[in-house]
Order: sequence, then structure tokens, then C-alpha cells
Amino acid sequence: MTKLPPHKMPADEWDELHFPRPEENEFDRVVERAISRRGFLSGLVAFGSGAVAMGTGLLNSTSAQAQAASRFPFTPIDAQTDMTVHVPEGWNWKTMVSWGDPLFDNVADFDATNGVTAADSDKVFGENTDGMETFQIGSHEIIAINNEYVNSEINLPHTPDGVPQSAEDVRTLQNFQGVTVMEIAEGENGYAPVKNSRFNRRLHHNAEMAISGPAAGHALMQTAADSTGTKVLGTMGNCGAGKTPWGTYLTCEENFNGYFGGMATGISDTVKAGYDRYGLGDESQYGYEKFDPRFDLGQNPNEPHRFGWVVEIDPTNPESTPVKRTALGRFKHENAEVTLAPDGRVVVYLGDDERGEFLYRYVSTNPYVAGQPTDGLLDDGILYVAKFHDDQTGEWLAMTPETTGMEMAEMLIFARQAASKVGATTMDRPEWIAVNPYAVEAYCCLTNNKNRGVKPNAGGDDTAVNGPNPRNANNYGQIVRWYPSDDNHAGETFKWDLFVMAGNPEVHSDAYAGSKNVTGGNMFNSPDGMTFDSAGLLWIQTDGEDSNEGDYAGMGNNQQLAGDPTTGEIARFLTGPNGCEITGLCWSADRRTMFVGIQHPGGSWPAESGLPRSSVIAVKRDDGQLVG
Ligand code: FEO
Ligand code: CA
Ligand code: CA
Repeated sequence: MTKLPPHKMPADEWDELHFPRPEENEFDRVVERAISRRGFLSGLVAFGSGAVAMGTGLLNSTSAQAQAASRFPFTPIDAQTDMTVHVPEGWNWKTMVSWGDPLFDNVADFDATNGVTAADSDKVFGENTDGMETFQIGSHEIIAINNEYVNSEINLPHTPDGVPQSAEDVRTLQNFQGVTVMEIAEGENGYAPVKNSRFNRRLHHNAEMAISGPAAGHALMQTAADSTGTKVLGTMGNCGAGKTPWGTYLTCEENFNGYFGGMATGISDTVKAGYDRYGLGDESQYGYEKFDPRFDLGQNPNEPHRFGWVVEIDPTNPESTPVKRTALGRFKHENAEVTLAPDGRVVVYLGDDERGEFLYRYVSTNPYVAGQPTDGLLDDGILYVAKFHDDQTGEWLAMTPETTGMEMAEMLIFARQAASKVGATTMDRPEWIAVNPYAVEAYCCLTNNKNRGVKPNAGGDDTAVNGPNPRNANNYGQIVRWYPSDDNHAGETFKWDLFVMAGNPEVHSDAYAGSKNVTGGNMFNSPDGMTFDSAGLLWIQTDGEDSNEGDYAGMGNNQQLAGDPTTGEIARFLTGPNGCEITGLCWSADRRTMFVGIQHPGGSWPAESGLPRSSVIAVKRDDGQLVG
């Protein structure tokens, strides 16, 4: 694993190599000790208090799996280990768009051997599809799709092993990332992009954006090119997404640190501490700084402060300028799940995907009122961070200058340190958060954390397990669910349980077997993408180990499952080709098509030969009925 060059490593592996936490204990010894200390009850983790934190519906059910009246509108499929997509009987899939597909007429079709030319690179669908949402304006159907990062050895096939050799190579990579906004339409061969639509737009690493909210204009946000600290080029590390009630798209900047490199000299202790906590250092992952001085920390030490935000985009107005909303804090944002409190205030749930980091919530000062201006709703509010207690209660800790001892803008720019100061609970890599449309509850995928209990974590509480993160060396992941007090997502406290602990009951008989709603027939690891459909089913997508061996034997390739929030039942719906993760899920306006993202596929997928291409597929029922 460590033999891979930096630009070929998953972001979390690269972070760990370059910003290692000191090793404290030998892996197996720590696991053994933690298990014997904590003990287990019927395969479920027991806590210091003796409480078992699984969902009560699961504990009280003799077998949730056995419930005859399944709500799933499909027959679950088996795990798969091949190079294609599988869906249930009576369903079908087609590729809608792949990396390199032209968005305009004057762009060459994708070349399976040579990829995309530098000249065309900002006029095609970007690489590594991730979060996405659909929008409608009149008869036009528009989709906004994140293009998270690049696999440069695939994107620059003319270079030695994908290492950029020129400013043009760097610009090409920059153009393949960010966000693609495009119009789509369904024809005889299924959904496809509408070439030349006035809505088609690429918001890549050099697209103009504005910065708003409390950190806008602060000295730490100012650069040589922007002395105002209010204008920035580009959005990057675009991972999960969100959609506001007023019809805008939220794109979330995650692994931005890997794009910066070079020696920063003469920086303040504050800036240096921020570099350390956010994983910024001399060596970059992608080598931009060798050809683009904006990414050289020696020349532009504040440039990375302008990334790691949630960005609001109006996909229905191609002339609009995207806005980075600093009130939502700066960290490695996964997605932005928006809901409303009973009084109309806007609540945004936010995860910071790094081992030992935190789960956040933003609450606006003013309520959303349909038809009224919305511009201040994501600029004026309070950021909170979650504290989970072992007795299955929890509280939202307000982050303010008073509670953190930090000045407002600095507190948001260095939200990780601010959250540590108020004593937030360190988590096993918070990925997507989803709010149930039919119950006042929310879910967060905690994808995995192999270092839990093995190394000190970044957030700083301790190295041991805690309530919602109950397993040391957690290589499978879990989904935590919380129930806001008084049915109010803006309330101060909540109760929580675990919806599922992933595991392998065919290999393990302890907590690593997973919770009771995990069986040999539905097992998976590393839950990541997650969203509810309009019928109230919880869709779960995985980004995990697909070796199908050892701890992962029988799990097969990465997959998409459906969960029933009431019974806890989980069923496998779709499997991806070798090497991919499944990420990004949304629906057509008529709800008869489900769009699913296939990121970093292996082989030559979706073709038989040539370069592999990250793609969005369109999944339908053969009978054309609703699909969510
Ligand atoms: Fe981009 Fe945490 O996934
Ligand atoms: Ca993810
Ligand atoms: Ca992931």
C-alpha cells in the first residue's frame, strides 16, 4: 500500500503517510485488550454503563430479517466480484455520462487510448463522480455533479505514470475536477447530457467564486492575488453534496490539503498549527505547486484557508457566481444535509471525514420563508459540534468566541481546533449524513477507523472507544442515528443509537461480526454515501475494501443497499465493477430513474478496453414504475 506514489493513493492513506500520528500500540494486542475489557453481549458491544447502543427496534425484534412484509421494492442480489454493474431482476441500468464525454458540439469524442486533450479538458464531464442533485427549471432537467479528484495516470496517459510535466498538464487536471452542471434529457437510449445547453457549465479549479460569511475578508483569507479575501479561484475535493429548500446546490470541499505543497516560511504559529491539524505540508499529493504558484505554500501561505468550505451554486442560473459559505466552518466536508427546524430555521448537518474528527451542525439565525431572500441564511448562524455520551444521550456544543476563546473568523477557519476546545466527541470518519423525511431523526455513516484505539486521534479526547464508535481497529464502519429532543433539529440535545454496525458474521463471532441486521447475505464494509428516497427508504453506498478475502470474504465489490429505518432490515440492491466505489445518488424529476455514481472503476469499465472512466449510471425498473 505504501509503495503507491502519492497521486495514486486514497486521500486518507496519503494523509496518514505524510502526517503520521505516533504509533502507540501493536494492532492485535490492542484489539484483544479492548475486547476483553469491554466484553460483548450477543455479539453487540457493551459500554461502561452496560447499555447496548443498538437501535431498540433491532433489539426487540427476534429477527428483523424475517419480517414477511419487506418494504423493499426489489429482490436482494448476491455479492459480486466481476467487472460490471448488477441490479435486481426486473431492473436495468445504462451509462448516462462518463468522464470525458463532451458537453458541447465543438469538442472531440472521448479517445479510449489518449483520453481528452488539454484544449477540451474544461468542456467535458469531469473525472471521479461523487455527490449530485437534480433540479428543474421550466421543462429543463438539470443535474449538478461533483468531480472529486483525479486519477492522473488515467487522465494524463502521455505522462510518466501520471506525474504532470507542465503547466498545461496541471491545468488539464484542474479542469477535470470541481463540479459539472449540465442539462440532461431522456431519449430512446435513455438519459444523456444535452450538448450545448445554456445550463452546461464546468466549475473547475480555476472558476471564479465569492467568499461570504464571517471569515470573508479576514487577513487569513487574503492573498497576493486577492487582497480583499473575498474572491477565490476554484472549488476542489468536491465530495458529497446537498440541496437547499430554495433550490440551490451545495458542494462540499473535502481533501483540499493534498493540492498544496512547498515550504512556507515566516508563517505565524496560528497558521502553522492550522497546517498541522489540516494535513498541509511541504509535499503535495498532485504536484500542482511545481507549475502553478497559487498552490505553493511558500508563495501563497493563505491560499489553503480559502478551501475546505461548503459552496453554494445556483445550477439554474449559468451566470451566477458560486459562493463559499464560511459560517459552515472549514474542515474536510463530506456532505451538507439541509433540513428545517419547526420554526423554519435552517439546519445543516456536516461531517468532517478524517479519523478522529467531528460531526457538526449549523443553525441559521433567521428562518427560511418561501419567496423571501435567502442569501443570509447560510451566512448568519451558529456552528455546533456533537458530544455523544455513553448513555445514549448527546448534546450540541455551540462554537462561539466565548466558548472557544477564538476570534470568530479564526474559529471558522480553524474549526477543527475550535471543536477540540469545546470537547467534541471524536468519530470514526463521518461521511454522509441523511435526514429521514418521515421522522425527526438523522443518520451518519462512520465509514471506518483502523486507528481507533491504536493511535492517538487527531481530535484529542482519548484513544479509546466511545459510545457511537465502539470498536477498536474499526475496519468495517457503522451508522449512528440521533433523535433530536422535542422533535427539533435545532434543539440542544438528542438521543442516539446505532442503526447498524457493519461486520462479517461468517468470519467473526465477536463485535466484528456486526450487528444483528448484518447477515452473510447482506454484508458490506465502509458505509459512505447515504440518502433517503421519497418513500422513506435509506439508501447506503459503500467505499470499502473489495478484495473479497479475509475479513472481507463474501462482501464482494462495493455496493448500494437499502435500509428500512423502522425494522433495521438491510438488503443489497446494486453492485459495482471491480475497483470502484459507489457514491452519489439522486432521482429524475419523474422519479422513474435513479442516478448512481460509479467512481474510480477498475479495468476499462464501462468499455471492454481502453482507459477506465468514472460514470453516472441511470437505473430503472423494467416496468417503468417509480424507483424512489
Ligand atoms: Fe470524499 Fe469522505 O469521501
Ligand atoms: Ca465519500
Ligand atoms: Ca470514503
